[in-house]
Formats: sequence, C-alpha cells, structure tokens
Amino acid sequence: MIIMACVLLILLGGAVILPADLLPDKTFSLLPPVNFTMKEAGLAQVLLRWEPNPDQEQMNVKLGYHVKINAPQEDEFETRSTESKHVSILHQGFSASVRTIPWHNHTLRASSWVSAELKAPPGSPGTSIVNLTCTTNTVATNCTHLQPYQVSLHCTWLVGKDAPEDTQYFLYYRYGSQTEECQEYSQDTLKRKNACWFPRAFIHSKGRDWLAVRVNGSSKHTAIKPFDQLFALHAIDQVNPPVNVTARIEGTRLSIRWEKPVSAFPAHCFDYEVKIYNTRKGAFQTANMTTSEFTSTVRDISKYSVQVRAAVRSVCRAAGLWSKWSQPIDVGNDEPKPWTEWFLVVLMTTVCIVFILSLVCRRCHLWTKLFPPVPAPKSNIKDFVVTVNYEKSGSGETEIEVISYVEEPELEVLEDFVF
Ligand SMILES: *[C@@H]1O[C@H](CO)[C@@H](O)[C@H](O)[C@H]1NC(C)=O
Ligand SMILES: *[C@@H]1O[C@H](CO)[C@@H](O)[C@H](O)[C@H]1NC(C)=O
Ligand SMILES: *[C@@H]1O[C@H](CO)[C@@H](O)[C@H](O)[C@H]1NC(C)=O
Ligand SMILES: *[C@@H]1O[C@H](CO)[C@@H](O)[C@H](O)[C@H]1NC(C)=O
Ligand SMILES: *[C@@H]1O[C@H](CO)[C@@H](O)[C@H](O)[C@H]1NC(C)=O
Ligand SMILES: *[C@@H]1O[C@H](CO)[C@@H](O)[C@H](O)[C@H]1NC(C)=O
Ligand SMILES: *[C@@H]1O[C@H](CO)[C@@H](O)[C@H](O)[C@H]1NC(C)=O
Repeated sequence: MIIMACVLLILLGGAVILPADLLPDKTFSLLPPVNFTMKEAGLAQVLLRWEPNPDQEQMNVKLGYHVKINAPQEDEFETRSTESKHVSILHQGFSASVRTIPWHNHTLRASSWVSAELKAPPGSPGTSIVNLTCTTNTVATNCTHLQPYQVSLHCTWLVGKDAPEDTQYFLYYRYGSQTEECQEYSQDTLKRKNACWFPRAFIHSKGRDWLAVRVNGSSKHTAIKPFDQLFALHAIDQVNPPVNVTARIEGTRLSIRWEKPVSAFPAHCFDYEVKIYNTRKGAFQTANMTTSEFTSTVRDISKYSVQVRAAVRSVCRAAGLWSKWSQPIDVGNDEPKPWTEWFLVVLMTTVCIVFILSLVCRRCHLWTKLFPPVPAPKSNIKDFVVTVNYEKSGSGETEIEVISYVEEPELEVLEDFVF
C-alpha cells in the first residue's frame, strides 16, 4: 500500500513536472545536425561534414557543434563551422559523433548525437607491417637563396609475420598537403620491401605538423592490411652534429670552439654537450653549453680527445634527440713532462737497463769472462764428480755444469742487487 502510494506520488509528481519541463523544451529545443558524413581527405586525414538541421527554429542565439571522436583515439572539440579536418590513423577505422550546442548559452540544452563511421580497410590479420620507425635529417643544398636546406626521410619496418612471400609493400607519406610515394626501397632476402629512403622529402624542417606515414601492400593470395602511423617531427629528427670543432691548449687553458649544426634552426636554438676525454687518466669530463665555445683549465699534461653534440632547445621546438657526437679532435700531448717525471723516467730506465744487462751477463757468462773465478782449493770429492761427468758425456753440457757450480756467487750478487 505504501509502495503503491509512493509510485502514485512519483507518477503524479512526474505528471506535474513533465509539462513544465516540456514547455521550454518545445520552445528552445535544439535539433541535431543532418547529413553528417565523413570521408578520407588525404593520407591519415578525414573530413567531417554536417548541415544545420533545417527544422531548427530561428532564435537569436548563436549555435555551435560539439564533435566527439570515438575511435581510434577519443578526442572532442567544439566548433561553429559545419566541417572539420581531423588527422588520425585510419587502418583501424574511424568513428565520430556530432551534436548541436548553444554557443555561450548554458540555459539551452544540447541536441542528441548523430554518428558516422569509416570502416577499417580490408586485409588479413598479420599481413600488415610492424615496427615502423622513421627518422628525418636536414642537409644543406647548394641552392642557398631559395631553399638552403632540404629534409631527407628514412623509414624501416618489419614484414608482417603472416604476409605471403609475394607481398609487395608500398610506403607513402603526407606532410601538410603534400603526399609522396617512396621511389627508393630496400628489400629483405625474399625481395619484400622493408625500408625506404626519400633524399628530398616535402617536409618543412621547422614545421610542427604531424608526419603521416602509410605502408599498404598487395599480394596475389590475400588482401594486405595497410598500416598508418603519425610522427611528431621533433621526436624523429636526427639533428646533425656541430661542425668545425676546434680545440687549443695555451698554457693550462683548454679552449674549444664549434659552429652550429647544418640545420634550418638559427644559432640560438641549440644546446650543446662537450665531452673531454683525458687519455692519460682515462677519464671523461662533460659540460652542457648554450654558447658555441667552452674553456677549461687543464692541470694534467696529457692528450685530450674532444667531442661536441647538439640538440634543438625547447624554446624553439619540443625537446627532441641529441645529435651524434662530432668526430673526436685530439689536442695536447703526453710530452714534454715536468723534470720530476723526467727524473723518475730516467731512474726507472736505468734500473731496467742494469737489470737486463745483469740477466744477459748471466746467460752469456760474461761475468765469468770479465771476472774469471779465482782458483780456490777444492775438495777431492768435487773434483772427482766433475771428472766423472766430463768423462760420461764428453759434451758441452758438462762444461756448463762445471761453470754453473762456479757461477753460484754471481746469483747471490744479483739477488742482493734486486732487493
Ligand atoms: C541532405 O542530403 C540530402 C540527400 O543528399 C539532400 O537532399 C538534402 O538537401 C541535404 N540536406 C541539407 C540540409 O543539406
Ligand atoms: C540563452 O537563450 C535564451 C533563449 O533564447 C535567452 O532567453 C537567454 O537570454 C540566453 N542567455 C544568454 C546568457 O545569452
Ligand atoms: C617490434 O616491436 C615489438 C613491440 O612493439 C617488440 O616487442 C619487438 O621486439 C620488436 N621487434 C624487433 C625485431 O625490433
Ligand atoms: C647542385 O645542385 C644540383 C641540382 O640541385 C646538382 O645537380 C649539383 O650536382 C649540385 N652541385 C654540387 C656541387 O653539389
Ligand atoms: C596505398 O595507399 C595509397 C595512399 O593512400 C593509395 O593511393 C594506394 O592506392 C594504396 N595502394 C594499395 C595497394 O592499397
Ligand atoms: C667550417 O670551416 C671551413 C673552413 O674554415 C669554412 O669554409 C666553413 O664555412 C665552416 N663551416 C661553417 C658552417 O661555418
Ligand atoms: C647535461 O644535460 C643532460 C641532459 O640534458 C644531463 O643528463 C647531464 O647530467 C648534464 N650534464 C651536466 C654536466 O650538467
């Protein structure tokens, strides 16, 4: 009974509230846009289009649209336009929704959503490429006035694990409004393309647009699934190392200078890292610089190997990669050494020479030749042994034995010298 009463009350309440709610709704309801369509407008780019609902009452309220990207990656934005270009990978399909919203008026309610989708392109699973990586590099041109720099693009990938042997892949890239197909491919052992090189790509080296790359393919046996990837230029740009690196030592001052890398970015856009290798100590010293010179005090007499690398500063572009190190520049010398070191060296050398000489003397019996043994009275037994040996072999060996007996005092001398 209580429940029924409650339900009745709620129904009554609802009946009372509903007309009150419907009234402004009828007057101020926004209707969803019509003819919402999507189409591919370039590689990895879709054009979304819709029309205002023709049944929408004219009000002196500005209307806008709320666009929601559902797949492959969620995103949303508001616009007053009736079309929008959106950059996205498309090999997994694409779907989006749009609704009419009041522009700067929160008393009106947004319309319901209308949706549309682009189907994923056909292709057997496992046939699309994997591990696509791309890098860009700037080179100077000889046409210094019109276009002083050009950008090369290099991409590599792995063949899909289920791609038939006859699969041929094709790589395209789009930057801004320019799309280009690769002309210079490399191939794997089965003659399937797995890398591509554009010596001159239509890429603006200081640009902030996405680089869109697509690798699709064909085979007699099955449909090859295409693969799209978007790259941020700052993340894949292989910066050139600094040029004209010079290093000089004057007294105890090591000064290193260099020039900015070949790049469309001006000089103030670079950070540098200097690496100094002390070959005598085997130790590195590094320093981060924003200018193109570095000075340091060196106390060691040594040879130094100097390298510098560069990166575009975050004030000019989002943080990216360091360049490779410049070719090592050698500076300084292991000589001349101060007199204390010379003294040590001379001392050590003398000791060595004396040591070697004494060894040689011992081997060649120089000692005995220079200082023949003083004949001393010998016991009869020793004389007997020597005589027996001599008679036994009658060779030179026995002579050595005799001498080695005589030599013994020399060994003692040597030992005294060494320790
Ligand atoms: C929507 O599309 C249909 C068919 O293409 C067309 O007749 C109609 O005029 C379009 N409506 C608007 C508002 O553009
Ligand atoms: C919002 O729109 C309603 C209906 O047109 C209008 O009465 C109201 O003044 C508007 N409010 C603002 C803040 O513009
Ligand atoms: C390819 O990429 C996957 C994951 O992205 C990784 O696990 C795999 O090691 C990569 N293969 C090669 C050969 O680099
Ligand atoms: C200068 O550029 C032209 C074409 O751009 C090329 O044919 C020529 O070899 C280049 N010269 C030098 C010295 O690089
Ligand atoms: C590959 O993609 C490009 C660019 O979207 C397209 O022009 C070409 O027809 C496609 N080729 C195949 C074999 O699907
Ligand atoms: C590097 O040095 C050479 C010779 O000193 C000079 O011709 C060249 O212009 C320098 N490079 C740069 C980028 O300044
Ligand atoms: C230089 O900067 C790098 C990162 O940019 C940092 O890892 C390194 O420690 C810095 N070196 C010095 C000497 O400050």
